[in-house]
Amino acid sequence: MRFNRTRMTIGAGVAFAAVSLFLTASSMNRGGKTENTEGKRIYNTYCLACHGMDGNGNGPDAHLLKVKPTDFRKGVFRFKSTAGSALPTRGDIVRTLELGVRTTAMLPQLQLSHDQMEDVAGYVMSFCPKFRTEKPGKVVPIPAAPPRTVALIKEGKSLFTTCAVCHGTNGEGDGPIAATLKDDNGRPIRPANLTERPLKRSNTPREMYRTIACGVNGTPMASFASSFKPRQIWSLVYYIESITKNPNPGKKLVGEEKIGAKIDKAAYEAWMKSGK
Ligand code: HEC
Ligand code: HEC
Repeated sequence: MRFNRTRMTIGAGVAFAAVSLFLTASSMNRGGKTENTEGKRIYNTYCLACHGMDGNGNGPDAHLLKVKPTDFRKGVFRFKSTAGSALPTRGDIVRTLELGVRTTAMLPQLQLSHDQMEDVAGYVMSFCPKFRTEKPGKVVPIPAAPPRTVALIKEGKSLFTTCAVCHGTNGEGDGPIAATLKDDNGRPIRPANLTERPLKRSNTPREMYRTIACGVNGTPMASFASSFKPRQIWSLVYYIESITKNPNPGKKLVGEEKIGAKIDKAAYEAWMKSGK
């Protein structure tokens, strides 16, 4: 019994919400094994070194890293399809496993099959009690991209004044308050240099749209879904793409990915062999 298929056949309404909450909270049965047992096995093999036995982000290798592994107990996830501080969906965690968090030690986890990603995502969620009492936030829709015109890029450039206080007038991450920013854990955090690739997550137009609309939870980068219309968010995406110096950086390891590759050899090798 696959979770996604179950969700689809149950249909809409209260019954759906109640049943899907129940399924999220309990351990689900897939192919005779309970998912949490499998999720735990995968976690202890591939994630524990950085994220720690009880998900607190303080695994045996975490001291090697400047950008620290996420403490899953808090339920603060940066990259997700729900706005602001809302909980992510399980699919959001799976997407993090597919894409990694570029420039950090969190490599794409392509040594795992899709089902294994689902299982370990469920196990990650079990570290945080909030997932048992709160529903994930509403998924922010990403409407079809309008044609990329010179006028729209110009509009994005003028809207970018909202962003410049952190990201700098030219998007280089050097705005007037850039050096003063801290994340929710009190660690200094720099606004992204938007002229460089890869960014942590926003390396395709859709993912960048999602980042601007949903924000980067746990950092000063707010959700702009309610301040801008979809067309305006697309204009920002097009503008930021237009100032990129190296649009296709390829698979070269960047920043702490190099340390990640040493800690997490299985993920590194699978990523290098993959077409992604
Ligand atoms: C080599 C160290 C390392 C390993 C191994 C690792 N991670 Fe991470 N992970 C990190 C770091 C560092 C971050 C924080 C990135 C940031 O905050 O920008 C992170 C972040 C995350 C996030 C949160 C992303 C977000 O939206 O905030 C999830 C989910 C995650 N890891 C899951 C996993 C899972 C599941 C595994 C095992 C299959 C795993 N990680 C293996 C280092 C690692
Ligand atoms: C208050 C400061 C602040 C403002 C204002 C701000 N940002 Fe950010 N932004 C950040 C920080 C900090 C990060 C880095 C988050 C991280 O590294 O986890 C970031 C990251 C990003 C990223 C990259 C995410 C990734 O994948 O690495 C994009 C794209 C982005 N911002 C776009 C924008 C746009 C567009 C605006 C204006 C509409 C904006 N930001 C306004 C602070 C800000």
